[in-house]
Amino acid sequence: MGDSSNNSEAAGYKEASRSAQKVDGEDFIQTDVRPKAGDVILDLGCGTGELSAYLAELVGPEGKVIGVDPDKERIQLAMETLSQIENLSFVEGSASSFPGIGSGSYNIIFSNFALHWMTNKQEVFNNMFESLKTGGKIAFQYAFCIPPFMFNAYKEMNPENAERICQKFQCESKSKIDNYCKSAGFRITKSFENYCKGVVFGNVDRLLKWHWSTTHGLFDPSLVTEERLQRYLAAYRRNDGTLCLDFREKEDELHVCRLIAFKQ
Ligand SMILES: C[S@@+](CC[C@H](N)C(=O)[O-])C[C@H]1O[C@@H](n2cnc3c(N)ncnc32)[C@H](O)[C@@H]1O
Repeated sequence: MGDSSNNSEAAGYKEASRSAQKVDGEDFIQTDVRPKAGDVILDLGCGTGELSAYLAELVGPEGKVIGVDPDKERIQLAMETLSQIENLSFVEGSASSFPGIGSGSYNIIFSNFALHWMTNKQEVFNNMFESLKTGGKIAFQYAFCIPPFMFNAYKEMNPENAERICQKFQCESKSKIDNYCKSAGFRITKSFENYCKGVVFGNVDRLLKWHWSTTHGLFDPSLVTEERLQRYLAAYRRNDGTLCLDFREKEDELHVCRLIAFKQ
């Protein structure tokens, strides 16, 4: 499995997300989320917790961040690697079961690239509304469709698993998401499409590892024959034949949404 010494899916995710989700997550936090010192934040679908740790740094010792994720292994790794941060904790849970659900106690509920994994989104928005303080906000970055470089990877390199992988994604359009948000009682202040700044892979091995780890192991690299790989990569070759695994150069690949809404 490529270039990592630790081959667990969670460790693979942690390593792979550095050049992908983490970059856009930090950008989102800096430009749109803008937490304040003392804020209490829930990071919903925190993965291995890198962005939770970044948020904890920004809210300072007076603030607090709780990262929640249903993936036991990712939460375990987050606890092991980030336990020294005093104002940060991690809990296994989900959008329908998290600490302080319904408590009206959070200043911000943040979520980076996790909403498209969540089912029953109206319930998710209702839960968040009930869990925020008055004046609190939600800050979500999410995919409204499976990006072509992912969809094609499943179809071309894992046809045996493609349907099963795609079924895991619960992508919905921006207008549907906005409607869930408004129906829950939120006032939307920002809802817009954005191009990702991350998702750069140093080599093919890393790209395959990313597909494997982001699908929680459903994408199986052992099914990727040389013929399948070359067919997939053909779309990502420049005119001179060299490979471009910097998906920032392909705007149609990485179109996502950002949503900021307040509980008044
Ligand atoms: C693409 S990862 C993003 C992780 C992290 N936010 C980041 O930016 O690196 C999506 C995460 O959502 C989590 N997830 C899936 N279903 C969820 C649910 N129902 N509630 C909360 N999180 C969920 C997954 O386990 C996964 O770790």
